[in-house]
Amino acid sequence: MNLLDLRADARAVMPHVNVSEPVRARAIATWRGRMINEHGSSRVFDQLARQMALAGFESSLVQQASEFAAEEKHHGVLCGAVVEAFGGEAVAPPRVEHDLPEHEDVSRIEAVMRNVLSISCLSESVAVALIGAERLRMPEGELRALLTRIYSDEVGHSRFGWALVAQHAGSWDAAAKERLGKYLALAFAHLEAHELAHLPVLGPLPEGAEDVGVCDGGEARKLFFATVREVIVPALEGYGLPAERAYQASRRIVLQ
Ligand SMILES: [Fe+2]
Ligand SMILES: [Fe+2]
Repeated sequence: MNLLDLRADARAVMPHVNVSEPVRARAIATWRGRMINEHGSSRVFDQLARQMALAGFESSLVQQASEFAAEEKHHGVLCGAVVEAFGGEAVAPPRVEHDLPEHEDVSRIEAVMRNVLSISCLSESVAVALIGAERLRMPEGELRALLTRIYSDEVGHSRFGWALVAQHAGSWDAAAKERLGKYLALAFAHLEAHELAHLPVLGPLPEGAEDVGVCDGGEARKLFFATVREVIVPALEGYGLPAERAYQASRRIVLQ
């Protein structure tokens, strides 16, 4: 298997941070997991940029999606840099990546909007909430500065999707909203499966864990659900999408 090896790039941007012995192993595992995830997101935006170009979206928007791909790659390196700073190695098996769906049952534009909803409005909005909370629990310093850099990019990735939704919502007729609603149920189910898999509840945190970005899985799960129910669903409803119904339907979907 081809390993994701970010050691050289990561070592060049290592922050000056310390970690106590009882926290070290968990901190390394946490940041290595993030490294894999962030790096994997790069391919998602590359594919989105390609789909947007084919669907005839403005070149400046396509360009933005491509830049997001580069940012995600850099986030992977930054997370790898933390792994290295804590005494680990920025090497891991890569994320198993499925191709972004083409949604051939609808127009190219609507297909892009489905993926934008899933990537930016759902996943990236959740990332903003989770990283934002984690960042607030970290003391000032190089690690928090690194996380702030990632956080501000994720805000951009999320806003990109919400801006596109705002732009396109007026053109959706009742049937389009219905179709997008059906798709959202599946997107919510995938989002939840993905997030819960990455937020394990491992019991009480060792002293100083939050200072180095190791968060309580139970708290993070609560924040995840609150973000979906209190922020994402109402915002989508505001654009005329049956998001509440979609969210309820997602609870009954069993993913393979
Ligand atoms: Fe990222
Ligand atoms: Fe992102």
